[in-house]
Amino acid sequence: MTPPRERILEAELLRLRPLALEHSGEVLRYAAAKAIADNTFVPHPYSAEDAAEFISKTLSARAEDEGYTFALIARASGAFVGCMGIHLNPAHRRAEVGYWIGVPFWGRGYATDALRRLLRFGFEALALNRIEAGHFPQNPASGRVMRKAGMRAEGLRRGYVWHRDGFKDVEYYAILRAEWEAERVANM
Ligand SMILES: CC(C)(COP(=O)(O)OP(=O)(O)OC[C@H]1O[C@@H](n2cnc3c(N)ncnc32)[C@H](O)[C@@H]1OP(=O)(O)O)[C@@H](O)C(=O)NCCC(=O)NCCS
Repeated sequence: MTPPRERILEAELLRLRPLALEHSGEVLRYAAAKAIADNTFVPHPYSAEDAAEFISKTLSARAEDEGYTFALIARASGAFVGCMGIHLNPAHRRAEVGYWIGVPFWGRGYATDALRRLLRFGFEALALNRIEAGHFPQNPASGRVMRKAGMRAEGLRRGYVWHRDGFKDVEYYAILRAEWEAERVANM
């Protein structure tokens, strides 16, 4: 069986391919937008070195089975539209997901499609018990993506992260294995 670190994941609208140095140009083009930096830990301004360093870190994490970051490729056009990663905490069989979609591709269902597929990867291939994600309160679209993928709101972690110029609150969402399995049975 193919090890998780080598898997390509097929979703409805997207193909999730292991992020690689060949994606540097597209990562640079789309991650440089301020709208991405405002809602993530992507630096701004963003340089070619930042893109190369980000991809290198994801390659090391993948090689160590600490996390898997995917390039999101639109099945219909072959276009790179964004990135999504799952970062593991093996002691608790838990993981955290992070993502961004290039601004020209917003509102087409891509983040939801990728998140649904990554949750399946987490529960089936990685045997996780819990998958979580957080977003800044100013970014309700991301909370909507999490809810559409089946995650539940767990509440606001106050002053939880340092972002740019201050401590920021983070809305947390999660889904447990039992909830994901119950949802699957309900949809059969
Ligand atoms: C948040 C983000 C990932 C969404 O990606 P996307 O591919 O456009 O998401 P989808 O199309 O799958 O779904 C977006 C949903 O949010 C909704 N939405 C958009 N703007 C919204 C807003 N201001 N308030 C509430 N919901 C909103 C959309 O209507 C859609 O829901 P619907 O299908 O019920 O209509 C994308 O905007 C992004 O990359 N933003 C910057 C980086 C970021 O926020 N990353 C996540 C950090 S937690």
